[in-house]
Amino acid sequence: MDPARFFAASRLVIVAGKGGVGKTVVTAALARAASRAGLSSLVIEVEGKSGLATMYGQQALDYDEAVLFPDGGPRGDGEVRARTITPDEALLDYLRDHGLSRISKRLVSSGALDVVATAAPGIKDILILGKVKQLERAGAADLLILDAPAAGHAITFLQAARALLDTVRVGPINAQAKEVLEMLTDHARCRIVLVTLPEETPVNELVDTAFSLEDRVGIGLAPVVVNGLYDPVDGIAADPTAAAAEADTTLRDGEADVLAAAAAFRADRTSLQDEQLARLAEQLPLEQIRLPFVFTTEIGPAELDALADRLLAEVERLPEVV
Ligand SMILES: Nc1ncnc2c1ncn2[C@@H]1O[C@H](COP(=O)(O)OP(=O)(O)OP(=O)(O)O)[C@@H](O)[C@H]1O
Ligand SMILES: [Mg+2]
Repeated sequence: MDPARFFAASRLVIVAGKGGVGKTVVTAALARAASRAGLSSLVIEVEGKSGLATMYGQQALDYDEAVLFPDGGPRGDGEVRARTITPDEALLDYLRDHGLSRISKRLVSSGALDVVATAAPGIKDILILGKVKQLERAGAADLLILDAPAAGHAITFLQAARALLDTVRVGPINAQAKEVLEMLTDHARCRIVLVTLPEETPVNELVDTAFSLEDRVGIGLAPVVVNGLYDPVDGIAADPTAAAAEADTTLRDGEADVLAAAAAFRADRTSLQDEQLARLAEQLPLEQIRLPFVFTTEIGPAELDALADRLLAEVERLPEVV
């Protein structure tokens, strides 16, 4: 599938999955891949300190927009921008937009939002999603990518609109929740990318999350991302002594054992991951985008570029309709 078409399928992409599976890495790679395809993107974070900016070689984010990757000019790479949205700041914005700026500061600093949030759970999520919806409507970028909270929370986060509609039947909150739900369930406006590792528990959770989101929220599911795969390596042989002889080198004492152990570990890991990939395909009829585990201490711009390349290659491999 043509990457530009893939990324243009909906203005908003929500990246979700279990804690630590690589949501932020995938968010960063999606934005960079979209940029390569010539689209501008705005990454939205809802929890601070994700490490997203570091992958672009930049300082941590705040509520103001930051440019993570510059616009490459005509026919060049698209710009990548990012910002964090917190419920407090989203509420301030909302009140300001509705002519209530005089009370807004005091309301927020008095902690009134926490009181309201206790009475109407989901209100904070709606404030955030309401702000996302506003950015989506305004066409803040070709593509908006939301780095969602970890899975359990992601479902409540996305269900918040529906839950609030049941609790609050009239007024501005009801209107806001309705509009958020409209956006979430319109597959031409919003899709969710679920991320997992090729391991038993994360795969199980991904399958559950996928069905919950589809049934309970009616959200559109994009291909899933399986992150952290071990690529097959040439030259890791089960029998290192024979391999060394063939390559016309000799191994020092103990080296053969270490290499054999490494090869066995790798083979084991690869067969486990193949099993999980097959199981995922069987249980969830969605296309898979597979990303490699990058051997590095920290993912920086170079590693991110490599991941974005892989992502683009994977997208090109997808059928025209996903
Ligand atoms: N493909 C990969 N190769 C190597 N390291 C990776 C890869 N994907 C993620 N990581 C590393 O794994 C850790 C977790 O990744 P990340 O922060 O993206 O996960 P997350 O799902 O956003 O976590 P959280 O739920 O805490 O927000 C990070 O240290 C990240 O650098
Ligand atoms: Mg994260």
